[in-house]
Amino acid sequence: MNKENNFNPEIIVASPGRINFIGGHTDYNNGFVLPAAIDKKINFQLRKNGTANICNVHSENYNKFLVVDLNKIEPSIEGWENYILGVLQQLLNRSDGIMGFDCVISSELAIGSGLSSSAALECGLAYGINELFNLGLSKLEIAKLSRDAEHEYVGTKCGIMDQYASVFGEENKVLFLDCHSLKYKLIPMYLTDYKVLIINTNVEHNLSSSNYNTRREQCEDGVEVIRRKYKSVSSLREVTLKMLAEVKELMSPVIYQRCLYIVEENIRVQKAADYLKNNDLKEFGKLLYQCHEGLRYQYEISCDELDFLVDFSKDKEFVIGSRMMGGGFGGCTVNIIHKDFIDDYTQKISQAYQDRFHIKLDAFQVMPSKGTSHQVITVQEKKL
Ligand code: GLA
Repeated sequence: MNKENNFNPEIIVASPGRINFIGGHTDYNNGFVLPAAIDKKINFQLRKNGTANICNVHSENYNKFLVVDLNKIEPSIEGWENYILGVLQQLLNRSDGIMGFDCVISSELAIGSGLSSSAALECGLAYGINELFNLGLSKLEIAKLSRDAEHEYVGTKCGIMDQYASVFGEENKVLFLDCHSLKYKLIPMYLTDYKVLIINTNVEHNLSSSNYNTRREQCEDGVEVIRRKYKSVSSLREVTLKMLAEVKELMSPVIYQRCLYIVEENIRVQKAADYLKNNDLKEFGKLLYQCHEGLRYQYEISCDELDFLVDFSKDKEFVIGSRMMGGGFGGCTVNIIHKDFIDDYTQKISQAYQDRFHIKLDAFQVMPSKGTSHQVITVQEKKL
């Protein structure tokens, strides 16, 4: 592939990151989530290159090149390459229509910050190849194969939320997704005087992926215990507070706390969806704080930096909700804040965070936006 700046793509794909207002770690428990795609994206330029099996991928952010032979795909020791390789492997499992292509990737999303740059990367690539070679895969298949790529090549046993939100998101709308049926409803978000402010701790503590997988296993262990009394239960989604109380003594305290958090969180997400439908942002925001407390004390996946940022907001009446987002142990908080206070608040929280941790944070606004989309470049446009 030509490494100069005159790449002539056949199609351009924009694949967004996501936020999740509430529904932390409920997705892999078949529960409910309330995410939205955002106006920060990964962009892909793609073209066929006339070869049967050679794919050239250039990551502009990493300034790295990857050459893949479709006949010889295997996991790599280079982290970012596994997202590409995993997606290609999953596409090959589903279709024999893929041939050689060239692809240039550039990202507006901070990597590993909890805005799901990984899902944006997987879904955008899968979507682009699907369009380029007319593979006929549905949006749902794209989301699912992207999740499978992450399980098998990256090693995080994530749920479907990130990929789903990235693909199905719509402007100014939040997805109320049932991760069991994989059906969703779009809820309009009228923020009026409020904005969504993302604050990035700029920390990512070790073992976040293995801790993530451990939480998933602990939930499965909990389900095993519940099944001793309720044989038909296959996930925490089907468990009520009453059922859980009945088996409490059969579980270790840690497993009980993990399960309790998930059962309570599923209830919170459903309430949050109702508040959003009624445009009651204040009550909606209170649930975000409760979600954070659950993730901090019951699910134990927060960290000092995230707790500091959420605690800092608590006595400010212009912040109506704040919580950590994503897998845990670092990344971002999502905040709903009155527009008139954003600049002053950002300045104060940055200073306080710097004083406490000697780390610079990043703060930026996002909007619920449309999901993965593409543009076909016509011959005429290419000449311009
Ligand atoms: C990560 C995973 C998601 C979800 C969230 C936590 O972003 O990829 O599937 O489990 O963590 O809500």
